[in-house]
Amino acid sequence: MIVGVVNETFPGERRVALVPAVVGMIEKCGAEVIVQRGAGDSAGFPDSEFTEKGAKIVADRAEVFSTADIVCMIRTFGANTENGADDLAMYRDGQTIIGMSEPLTALEPVQKIAATGVRCFAMELVPRTTRAQAMDVLSSQAMLAGYKAVVHGMSTLPKMFPMMMTAAGTIAPARVFVIGAGVAGLAAVAAARRAGAIVHAFDVRPEVKEQIESLGAKFVEIEIADARGEGGYARELTPEERQKQQMLMGDTVAESDVVITTAAVPGKKAPVLIPADVVRRMHPGSVIVDMAAERGGNCELTKVDEVVDVDGVTILGPSNMAATVPLHASQLYGKNVANLLKLILKDGALEIDPEDGDVMGTMLTEGGEIVHAFAREVFGLEPLAAPAAAAAVPEGSDA
Ligand code: NAI
Repeated sequence: MIVGVVNETFPGERRVALVPAVVGMIEKCGAEVIVQRGAGDSAGFPDSEFTEKGAKIVADRAEVFSTADIVCMIRTFGANTENGADDLAMYRDGQTIIGMSEPLTALEPVQKIAATGVRCFAMELVPRTTRAQAMDVLSSQAMLAGYKAVVHGMSTLPKMFPMMMTAAGTIAPARVFVIGAGVAGLAAVAAARRAGAIVHAFDVRPEVKEQIESLGAKFVEIEIADARGEGGYARELTPEERQKQQMLMGDTVAESDVVITTAAVPGKKAPVLIPADVVRRMHPGSVIVDMAAERGGNCELTKVDEVVDVDGVTILGPSNMAATVPLHASQLYGKNVANLLKLILKDGALEIDPEDGDVMGTMLTEGGEIVHAFAREVFGLEPLAAPAAAAAVPEGSDA
């Protein structure tokens, strides 16, 4: 059994899917680890560190695909349509690939992966169960991204974050508003509090009020319907509910120095929560860091990876933020992947338990088909009758 890891080819992607620290863990499952030369360089893990841990370096990407039974990536073709097409031609029928795959976003790339016959584990699909937390890349990467969003806000704002009392007068603390208090949002709340800001936060799932308050921030009370969805996620708001939310949050946004938005609903475009007229009510110098930029943005005026200036208000729409801290992001991602490998590798053989909801709930394609029930539903495909199709994000979840 050979587990391989390749170089990432997506523009700006600096992470690597396995790190030297997990090589031993994989070997204990009876597998050898091969690494494409230089795969860990941009994340701060040179080849020598992999070989010290027992991995073998191979020069050629094609060799990894042709010899590895399991290929680990940050981004499979699904999440790298820009540069991943050459890989697609190297995916082999019956091979297992593991990586982020945009499993609920675009049907065509997912169909192309399925057509190669690979068994694709899409890391975004890891169910939100207690047991599966160890494999949850959305959480591990979102936590880093939430912190980085605060760093972006702090370095762009023409003010200090903490209160400062000086002989020349007192500086008031910055006011930060975090919209969407899931994993990234709570990390942003914690980071902004630690940096000394006054922090407010809001989420449509009312249970997060307590979590927000436990971090020393204030929950913004807005009278809109409870929008708890399935699997620990939020449901999509109706257009009327969204409009009401925009209106009720408007004052808090307008009074904030930094607004960090993270609101998302799986498989849907991000909800627009900050319309242009609210941006125009903000003070010049204020900053919006729109972490939902890649999903269409929570602010009407966001442009992905661009800096937008609206009458002195700066709107940042950074993408792929976890890749800006590639060492720690890879360390966590690699451990997440190794934990999945532990569940599917027994004594050097692939052993997938069809009853294991955490494993089956992560499987996107197998035997030429999209087998994930929720992905099929999102793409408007008929449900499969086979047992492999039974696992779905909501059903596997205890979040
Ligand atoms: P996400 O990235 O899908 O969404 C981010 C946040 O946006 C969520 O908290 C969501 O409620 C919020 N949101 C959606 N629409 C909104 C709107 N219109 N206005 C304001 N906020 C809105 O979600 P994420 O962060 O990946 O996870 C959400 C939750 O899942 C976590 O807070 C946690 O409860 C649960 N979870 C459970 C895990 C487990 O049990 N293994 C692991 C990770 C998360």
